[in-house]
Amino acid sequence: MSTQDPKLAAALAALAELPEAGVVGLGTGSTAKLFIDELAKLVAAGRDLVGVPTSRASREQAEALGIRLLDDDGPWSIDVTVDGADEVDAALHLIKGGGAAHAREKIVNFASRRNVIVVDPSKLSRRLGEKWPIPIEVLPFGHASTARALAAHGSPNLRRRDGVPVRTDAGNLVYDLRTGEIDDPAALEVLLRSVPGVVETGLFVARADVVLVGGATVRRLARG
Ligand code: A5P
Repeated sequence: MSTQDPKLAAALAALAELPEAGVVGLGTGSTAKLFIDELAKLVAAGRDLVGVPTSRASREQAEALGIRLLDDDGPWSIDVTVDGADEVDAALHLIKGGGAAHAREKIVNFASRRNVIVVDPSKLSRRLGEKWPIPIEVLPFGHASTARALAAHGSPNLRRRDGVPVRTDAGNLVYDLRTGEIDDPAALEVLLRSVPGVVETGLFVARADVVLVGGATVRRLARG
């Protein structure tokens, strides 16, 4: 396959990871958005694929394109989820949450039998934290105290857009925790999750089965 846009190349390659019929988790972000566009074409052509969206934005996009969706309550039995990532390390651990959707993304990821991650090559790094801070969704109540506790592990910044704190689909806040290179993502995940007020972190440790890296040739990296 040859396409100029690496994100589109990865999104197109993800179509080969889908079952003939079944339930597909729909990620969030610009690469997942391209995938949803392509999925809609399969559905329009008659493939029996049903979606579980990971954000309001993905739900609205999929609905507008005529993809049948399951409700937000679950429990779902998802065959495969296709989602993007902000950073992917050599062990295929991920940082996600650039679009503040990581809590829902992680719930859908854990409900999926397989997880396929679609990225462009800029997302690859040797060790997580090299390029991206960890997005951390926190409850609004006492968020400055939560941030003070998070500061034991890095430098937390309240995410704002146009000067206003960003809210997740659940109405929570996001702190981006700049850590530098992370030695042990699994251990850090446990520490961050133990801070009261933390709803979810953007660390996805051992949660990608396949990573598709777009380019003139798409690279398929598989865990294990
Ligand atoms: C959404 O919260 C994120 O986890 C996205 O999946 C991630 O930011 C990747 O987005 P892009 O595909 O837009 O780079």
